[in-house]
Amino acid sequence: MSRRSYVTTPIYYVNAEPHLGHAYTTIVADVLNRFHTLCGTETYFLTGTDEHGDKIVAAAEKEGQTPKEYVDRVSDLFRTLWPKLNITNNYFVRTTDSDHQETVKRILNKVKERGDIYFSDYEGLYCFGCERFYTERELVDGKCPDHQTEPEVIKESNYFFAMSKYQDWLIDHIKQTPGFIRPERYKNEVLSFLKDPLDDLCISRPKSRLDWGITLPFDEDFVTYVWFDALINYISALDYPEGERFKKFWPSVQHMIAKDILKPHGIFWPCMLRSAGIEPYQHLNVHGYWNINEGKMSKSLGNVVKPLDLVDVYGLDAFRYFLLREMVFGLDSDFSEEALVARINADLANDLGNLVSRSLTMVRKYFKDEAPGVGSIGEEDEALKSDALALVDTYKELMPELGFHKALIAIWELVGKVNKYIDSMAPWVLIKSDQERLGTVMVYLLESLKIVSVLIWPFIPGTSEKIQGFLGLPKKGRDLKLKDLPEWGKGKTAVTISKIPHLFPRIEESRSKEGAKVEKETEKKDNEGGISFQEFQRLDLRVGHVLKAERIPGSKKLLKVIVDIGEERTVVAGLVGHYTEESLVGKQVVVVANLEPAKLMGVESQGMVLAAEDESGVHLLIPDAPVTPGSKIR
Ligand code: MSP
Repeated sequence: MSRRSYVTTPIYYVNAEPHLGHAYTTIVADVLNRFHTLCGTETYFLTGTDEHGDKIVAAAEKEGQTPKEYVDRVSDLFRTLWPKLNITNNYFVRTTDSDHQETVKRILNKVKERGDIYFSDYEGLYCFGCERFYTERELVDGKCPDHQTEPEVIKESNYFFAMSKYQDWLIDHIKQTPGFIRPERYKNEVLSFLKDPLDDLCISRPKSRLDWGITLPFDEDFVTYVWFDALINYISALDYPEGERFKKFWPSVQHMIAKDILKPHGIFWPCMLRSAGIEPYQHLNVHGYWNINEGKMSKSLGNVVKPLDLVDVYGLDAFRYFLLREMVFGLDSDFSEEALVARINADLANDLGNLVSRSLTMVRKYFKDEAPGVGSIGEEDEALKSDALALVDTYKELMPELGFHKALIAIWELVGKVNKYIDSMAPWVLIKSDQERLGTVMVYLLESLKIVSVLIWPFIPGTSEKIQGFLGLPKKGRDLKLKDLPEWGKGKTAVTISKIPHLFPRIEESRSKEGAKVEKETEKKDNEGGISFQEFQRLDLRVGHVLKAERIPGSKKLLKVIVDIGEERTVVAGLVGHYTEESLVGKQVVVVANLEPAKLMGVESQGMVLAAEDESGVHLLIPDAPVTPGSKIR
């Protein structure tokens, strides 16, 4: 791992408001940047907006604004969105910034001095959507492959960049530099494009046609072609050529883009850099496209839910997790709210959320806020430790290779193993039989959780820092580095909060937090007599361990019962006269865990305890052998 890292996103056009595609690239770049931070690398992370060209002028006209008013407004939407998505960019570049404009002029002069810019007549097929000329062979059925429109024939005199001069160099460079364009499929796509002779690139537009751009330093009557202008953001933001940041960070640059802009990044940009005498980038990381089937998106308050709106409905970390877990870097993926809810319930609520709440509840219950000490160590403990430490190594290999979803799968495998470890170690039995072993199990549990909390930080930083807070770790978030992790059990860890909150509440299929409905076949079956199996499955029945019971002042029947169902819950139950407070403590009961909370005699009841009633009285339903608190009843 090099000492420095520079990660960039594309600078987004301001002719559209930010959407899922922009958010994904920026989040995935943020994940990579945060990973480098965890490795102790000095990082720089750039995003920004692309604000020149015909498209922007057309969009501004449509809104009845001047281009300047328009770009200021939309650029601001991007700039202010990123902190809400927990993006840690160091700088936000705009192509209308005067520094950037100066750098573009400097590069143009440099390339011209090199003899790589010439003036020529040109007649070509121009796509206004793409803002570029197309050759016949690039068109599909005579139409632009991206916009499905026929390009217009335009004849004008323009400046050209002699890109063809660099074709052989570029082919060699791509072939000889591992990971220059990755994944492989995109490297191959560029190489296959380079099998045909490369055309020179038209890099100017006459002001008579378009004046919203950067004036050429050597001809007042022309502005710079928007791509030649935009690509230079990656160096202008570093204060090229004299800036400290340029010297420090440029050698380690990697660009993150989607497949739609492979050609400008895979071909124009390296040739431009070569001509200007600047080292090529290290990596071009190319991901696939999110397909959004609006028909499949649910409706909220009558409006079609835009994917980004789901951040408010389901929470930022759930959204970030979903995007990174679902997309295989390089391939396309489908986005749907249903798939998002399924991931939240399975991976976040069930696996991670449960693990955190049951572990912390136990440590808290058995040791209060004192750190447990390690007692004798058995085979299962060693196995867990070696799995957890091996995971750190696997993670270090996968992340720099863009194997984000694989890294998440590997982390969740450990989460599963830790959940199993708890089940087979049965701490609730050890508390009675072997306190020394209990200490070991709890320490091993907390150490595994610490590792999980660090590895998830790039993906779901909010959750990671919450867990680290619960564990009372002296270093958290960006300060806790991967190299600290092999120190197993050295720094004392204890649970610092008394009420363990639910990190990811389960989302009921029929009702998301803000009322965004996931329409389910099963709901239509209402009132058809009997309930469907799916409806039955919606009941969250769990085994609870009674921690405490007390009378509710002023009530003749009600007891306030504190139960551990993998997390602590308060349940109000009409058990006075049937059970004493003391006799309830330590009992295992069945709890309905997903009832809406209700206030009874001023106490909020967060569930219901199941009991049977006949003439002999009220009898609790109790499992016939000790079961892990929180276990589901199926
Ligand atoms: N302004 C140029 C980029 C210049 S970089 C020097 C541009 N802007 S854009 O607003 O159209 O952004 C394109 C990028 O947005 C894609 O490369 C990708 O990063 C992101 N996405 C837009 N739609 C997307 C999907 N549907 N799926 C995934 N990412 C996509 O091109």
